[in-house]
Amino acid sequence: MTTAPHTPDARCARPVVELTGVTKEYPGGVKALRGVDLTVLDGELLGIVGPSGSGKSTLLHIVGTLDRPTAGRVAIAGHDVAALSDRALSALRSRHVGFVFQSFHLVPGISARANVAEGLLYSGLSRAERGRRAAAALERVGLGDRMEHRPHELSGGQKQRVAIARAVAGEPDLLLADEPTGALDTASGRSVMELLRELNGDGATIAVITHDQEIAASLPRSVRIRDGEIVSDAWHPYPRPGNPPPPHLPPRPGPHPERPEEAP
Ligand SMILES: Nc1ncnc2c1ncn2[C@@H]1O[C@H](COP(=O)(O)OP(=O)(O)O)[C@@H](O)[C@H]1O
Ligand SMILES: [Mg+2]
Repeated sequence: MTTAPHTPDARCARPVVELTGVTKEYPGGVKALRGVDLTVLDGELLGIVGPSGSGKSTLLHIVGTLDRPTAGRVAIAGHDVAALSDRALSALRSRHVGFVFQSFHLVPGISARANVAEGLLYSGLSRAERGRRAAAALERVGLGDRMEHRPHELSGGQKQRVAIARAVAGEPDLLLADEPTGALDTASGRSVMELLRELNGDGATIAVITHDQEIAASLPRSVRIRDGEIVSDAWHPYPRPGNPPPPHLPPRPGPHPERPEEAP
């Protein structure tokens, strides 16, 4: 299916992700993705929701250039992935994409600040500047008072905030989160989602993978995937509880520029 761009200013925002006819077949014959078309514009916050095994993580790996499709086209921040060597691809990834995973993926035994600074290792910044940016990113996620704590001295919600700080410290074009609340209690999960909303309000483009319908429904856009195919792509233009409108939205609802039929 074709997926139209989904923000109110769709005509001026630039695409960060463009997937066209993306198929992924794993060795052994499992078709994890079947002809996925997906465009994500700069500044979007979208949920990708679907049952276990539907292809969400596969989609995230392909969007994040950790894996290549079997067929179809992938462009990230305007770069066609197929044209790049593995080395060029990892450079593209480190410049443009930040990842957050369910299980945090922090380095044990080193401080929160060192964990965040580690994410900037290939940025070309000096060690001192990496440390400064790491501290600023930790402040941004509300952990200014936990800089020197090591992962085992932090709660699950705090660990996930460190992981988010690490993912955004390099100011990537795209933040990809795979079930970021999956290992958290309800309250910590809510607060992590709140943080992602705030970062999006500051301009970050974020895709959150979840099997939680409620989380997906609370986001401005939700893309549903089943058996490797996108089965719906809904845009919620209105303020909803816990989802205040970004400041650039018009005060009164209007039709989507490209999908006027979606206006109420
Ligand atoms: N590395 C792999 N090799 C073979 N099959 C895989 C691999 N990764 C995922 N799969 C299969 O692809 C399908 C989609 O998996 P995945 O993308 O992990 O789904 P989700 O994240 O929605 O649970 C599943 O049937 C899964 O078993
Ligand atoms: Mg998964």
